[in-house]
Amino acid sequence: MSKLKLGLLIGSTRKGRFADLPANWIGTQAEKTGAFDVEVIDLADFSLPFFGDPAASPAQTQAADAFAAKVAACDAYVFTVAEYNHSLTGVLKNALDHASWTRRPAGSVAYGGVGGARAVMHLRQIAVELEMVSVKAAVHISYGDYLALREGRTGFEALPHLGTAAERMLGQLAWWGRVLRSARQEERSVEAVA
Ligand SMILES: Cc1cc2nc3c(=O)[nH]c(=O)nc-3n(C[C@H](O)[C@H](O)[C@H](O)COP(=O)(O)O)c2cc1C
Repeated sequence: MSKLKLGLLIGSTRKGRFADLPANWIGTQAEKTGAFDVEVIDLADFSLPFFGDPAASPAQTQAADAFAAKVAACDAYVFTVAEYNHSLTGVLKNALDHASWTRRPAGSVAYGGVGGARAVMHLRQIAVELEMVSVKAAVHISYGDYLALREGRTGFEALPHLGTAAERMLGQLAWWGRVLRSARQEERSVEAVA
């Protein structure tokens, strides 16, 4: 069975962001499962305009098209989710508006005061509207672990509870990813015959 293409969305573009640490770690964990080819989709690489902004430059419109094409080519997603004011980042919300995520599963690696839980709950609500399948398991990096990782006092390998959560989430993403990919393929072949 061919590998699933996993889009790893880095959901913060803040200078000095923490997001790179969990993104690198979960990308490695996903590759290790053997189920996924990981494609990093870093929002910092796309100068996305606000969705529908009439003042968007041609370069921004091009960036938005390139972003939407990258998202469409994936079979599953993992988001790094920073909690900003008890929700997800504005850049991630805007990015979600820009693409079609339909009938793909999604998981989160979140961080913040309560492990980014409030941001993940908002992301799950949005996922329903986008027809994404939000898997149950998620990685929540609690504040103590977040500080220790940020300050370099520990590494992910010394936090096995995060590894366990990642394993569960990636397992669920692989299962739903395979199911939904074959359903989409079946649908396309029925349409081609009709
Ligand atoms: C605008 C802003 C709002 C924040 N609001 C929250 C919050 O509501 N809850 C929380 O736990 N942390 C909050 N934080 C702290 C962030 O979780 C922390 O700075 C984290 O490193 C942000 O992710 P990033 O470094 O990848 O951008 C906030 C940070 C910023 C910049």
